[in-house]
Amino acid sequence: MKIQDAEFITSSTHEKQCPKPDKPEYAFIGRSNVGKSSLVNMLTNRKKLAKISTSPGKTITMNHFLINKEWYLVDLPGYGFAKRSKSERAKWEKMIRNYLLTRTNLLSVFILVDLRIEPQKIDLEFMEWLGSSNLPFVIVFTKADKVNKAKVEAHVERYKNTLLENWEEVPPMLITSSQTARGKDELLDYIRKTNTIFST
Ligand code: GTP
Ligand code: MG
Repeated sequence: MKIQDAEFITSSTHEKQCPKPDKPEYAFIGRSNVGKSSLVNMLTNRKKLAKISTSPGKTITMNHFLINKEWYLVDLPGYGFAKRSKSERAKWEKMIRNYLLTRTNLLSVFILVDLRIEPQKIDLEFMEWLGSSNLPFVIVFTKADKVNKAKVEAHVERYKNTLLENWEEVPPMLITSSQTARGKDELLDYIRKTNTIFST
């Protein structure tokens, strides 16, 4: 699938403000600074569609983009941002969980994980929660350009082994880089295939 058209639709702080759930939808989530907004821009061939920042916590609303007039891509605010207050974090949790649990057109969650670091408790716990809520997800490793090939494979292997301590099987995994566009075709192909199961 080629992205010909990407249009920002709306920023929401509640599921009720989101666009009508009449098209397939995919949410991008992960720790602050993992590269969600960069990935959105890479996938859509746009430099500034989603705002990128060097300071974590830039994205604070749920941002809907309509792709090829056919499906929604949602850039969600990052979690695990240490500088946020407890009450802000609680607000984030409520907003995201409510969105994920009630959004009827959501077909898959892409959970982004920085390829350079050890499996993080916060990510593993979030995956546990997705699993127990019956929400299908894909693990998207980011920033692959920052590590050499052998290390990429070793990291993915280690991640799989960590997951297999608690899961019977591992979810689909994709290796990406917003710098080199690695993983772009695979990710868009996954969406293209998944779109076909959508019916209203
Ligand atoms: P929040 O909105 O704050 O949660 O962050 P985010 O997950 O949207 O991250 P963002 O896309 O803003 O990227 C954070 C930083 O990582 C920026 O400095 C990006 O330039 C950098 N970055 C993101 N993706 C990549 C990548 O694939 N390769 C490299 N080398 N840097 C990346
Ligand atoms: Mg962002």
